[in-house]
Amino acid sequence: MSVDLSPTAVQAREAGLLLQVADAEPAAPGIRTLRLRSPDGAPLPSFPPGSHIVVDCGTRRNAYSLTGPGREPEFYSVSVLLRPDGDGGSDFLHRVRVGDLLGVSRPRSAFVPVATARRHLYVAGGIGITPLLSHVRAATEWGRPFELLYAHRPGAGAHTAELRELCGERLREFPGRAEFQRALEDAVRSQPLGTHLYVCGPAGLLDFVHAAAGRAGWPQERVHAERFSAALDPGEPFTASLAGTGARIPVPAGVSLLEALERAGTAVPHMCRQGVCGECRLRVVRGRPLHRDLYLSPEERAAGDAVMACVSRSHDEELELDL
Ligand code: FES
Repeated sequence: MSVDLSPTAVQAREAGLLLQVADAEPAAPGIRTLRLRSPDGAPLPSFPPGSHIVVDCGTRRNAYSLTGPGREPEFYSVSVLLRPDGDGGSDFLHRVRVGDLLGVSRPRSAFVPVATARRHLYVAGGIGITPLLSHVRAATEWGRPFELLYAHRPGAGAHTAELRELCGERLREFPGRAEFQRALEDAVRSQPLGTHLYVCGPAGLLDFVHAAAGRAGWPQERVHAERFSAALDPGEPFTASLAGTGARIPVPAGVSLLEALERAGTAVPHMCRQGVCGECRLRVVRGRPLHRDLYLSPEERAAGDAVMACVSRSHDEELELDL
């Protein structure tokens, strides 16, 4: 299938990269791994572990974790789980063919390893292994101590052969929930001081890991989660005030800031509605945004002067926007 360069793809090419599908292989049932390269073979921008790219998928943009090596890579590798009830982005990427061109953002990351960590405990469920694969690869390369707990249905784990080779006995795989939960409870109780925990997977797994770490007395800043955007909770209500007009717009729990603004007649550019494409970025004049996106960098988050309206909310009862 040759891909037409839609307006979205043209935008992505101008803002990011235009890459060619070098190969496409099944990685596990329902999971397809794509390797993307520059059409002229030039090295691609380097990226730290835990990075993702946003891929133009026809009329959508979706974020996918980069699973390959990050230093001046020849390829970007992503593994795409087919979601039949999704928005069509995964279906699109399961149909692209070798030689097709895709618009791709430069790598971004909100899930990088903490440089001062003395040890890493990695926890993954299902396709949530993808951001952790690059963490494991870097930890192995740099000789950093770690262990990885990976829960997946029998035969449905992604990248298992590569993980077994990279990790050896540091990898433990769990086909059942009870066994995984027992191992996790033990693991969070037995880590030495200075360990950081990184988790990615479905909402239930993330909630369990946060609760287990809390019971074991882990400070929040040592637990790092990459949450699938579909798993966001409804959040607390708040009010968006618009600096230009003085309008005050209620944002109830379960309604995004973007939706509340749209309902009030204020159009905001948007595309993915998943916190990955960067289209709905708004400037914050006053108040503390509660970031839940995958787009802003740690520095941009810390600056506190921008919010992604489609997924993020407010720590304060009122958030004033430059609108
Ligand atoms: S619409 Fe894509 S980040 Fe909000």
